[in-house]
Amino acid sequence: MINKKAILNLEGKDPIKLNVLSGTLGNDVIDIHLLSSQGLFTFDPGFNSTASCQSKITYINGEEGILLHRGFPIDQLARYSNYLEVCYILLYGEAPTQEQFDVFRVTVTRHTMIHEQITRLFHGFRRDSHPMAVMCGVTGALAAFYHDSLDVNIERHREIAAFRLLSKMPTLAAMCYKYSLGQPFVYPRNNLSYAGNFLYMMFSTPCEQYVINPILERAMDCILILHADHEQNASTSTVRTAGSSGANPFACIAAGIASLWGPAHGGANEACLRMLEEISSVKHIPEFIKRAKDKNDSFRLMGFGHRVYKNYDPRATVMREICHELLNKLNMKDNLLEVALELEHIALNDAYFIERKLYPNVDFYSGIILKAMGIPSCMFTVIFAMARTVGWIAHWKEMHNEIMKIARPRQLYIGYKKRFFKTNIKHQ
Ligand code: CMC
Repeated sequence: MINKKAILNLEGKDPIKLNVLSGTLGNDVIDIHLLSSQGLFTFDPGFNSTASCQSKITYINGEEGILLHRGFPIDQLARYSNYLEVCYILLYGEAPTQEQFDVFRVTVTRHTMIHEQITRLFHGFRRDSHPMAVMCGVTGALAAFYHDSLDVNIERHREIAAFRLLSKMPTLAAMCYKYSLGQPFVYPRNNLSYAGNFLYMMFSTPCEQYVINPILERAMDCILILHADHEQNASTSTVRTAGSSGANPFACIAAGIASLWGPAHGGANEACLRMLEEISSVKHIPEFIKRAKDKNDSFRLMGFGHRVYKNYDPRATVMREICHELLNKLNMKDNLLEVALELEHIALNDAYFIERKLYPNVDFYSGIILKAMGIPSCMFTVIFAMARTVGWIAHWKEMHNEIMKIARPRQLYIGYKKRFFKTNIKHQ
């Protein structure tokens, strides 16, 4: 909705009137899309102040620590919903009726198997590859197996691709783990829940069937909910950018996985657990805090800080609760939780972190939970990717339902001006 105008006064030019758009919630945005016709671009590295699209899926208020999916607060979804219901909400915009949910669940669970030939693809990877490298490769390769419905201009094809991705991600993720161990792949079981099936494929072997612990199943389901979507983050923007050229959905999701892997994004959960292990004792915390504040040291407190949240990440609040609950229920004690709690306490009372509004994010406690579930740290980001796939698909579908424009940022060129070329090479 246009509700006011902004006036740009540039020396030597007539004032330029720009529309100011308002959404249902959040900051107003100045519509600058016609500025290029006036011979001007805007400059915003890292998209600090730039809205790249309009969206109805997720809303974040970073100052107040609010996260809503289709209007529903994340803590309520984590408490009263399950991952597949959240997937439905993200994809279709409304909470499903029982009947709609049953149809959705059956469709997802009936497509969990992957083409048998994909198992051979895995064997081309080294056993010691990072599972994210494998995940990225095999997800992109799905395009080669499911090309029967890859016309992105046909809505039904987009729907089929969406279901295939959502259904098959846990199977691929568990296969990455099994491959790294040298164990046989475990086929999905359709009578299990989404989270339960994933745990089953991770931990079952032909000689010993894994009995699903409902406490772990619920904790995994919550972790999936908390990672399901997060509006225009780096990986989602990557998926949108890749998709804007009309690229096929499997390739777009593979691009999202690649972007997620970085330690500033989804790779932080693995890096955070490694950091907590390195700190190992509360007595070492001051030394690490000192390093995090030192501009000459590249070390950062992993699981801390966020581009949007300038308050406690609401996902971290739920994550911390799950962490306590899980360790209590399993009657486990983890020294790393003690280190994490003390680290959080010290950082939140330190002027450096207070001034910069750096709070724990979703990755701060998730590693301790996953570790308690017996999941190795190299799989943490894979689980993040599996959970985030629905968010990526929801954004990809939303983009296709609108008038699509290829993403093509501009630049501020700071290289050479035109100059004369003279070769230094002796050409034959
Ligand atoms: N430890 C120490 N200092 C930090 C940290 C941190 N974790 N995060 C930010 N800062 C400082 C930074 O040095 C800068 O200080 P100064 O103003 O003196 O130069 C200031 O805070 C602002 O940081 P920034 O890098 O400009 O902020 P950003 O919005 O570009 O980066 C971030 C956000 C998440 C990449 C960053 O906070 C970070 O690297 N955190 C650690 C990695 C992490 O936990 N990532 C997971 C993010 S949540 C899950 C997800 O998105 O996947």
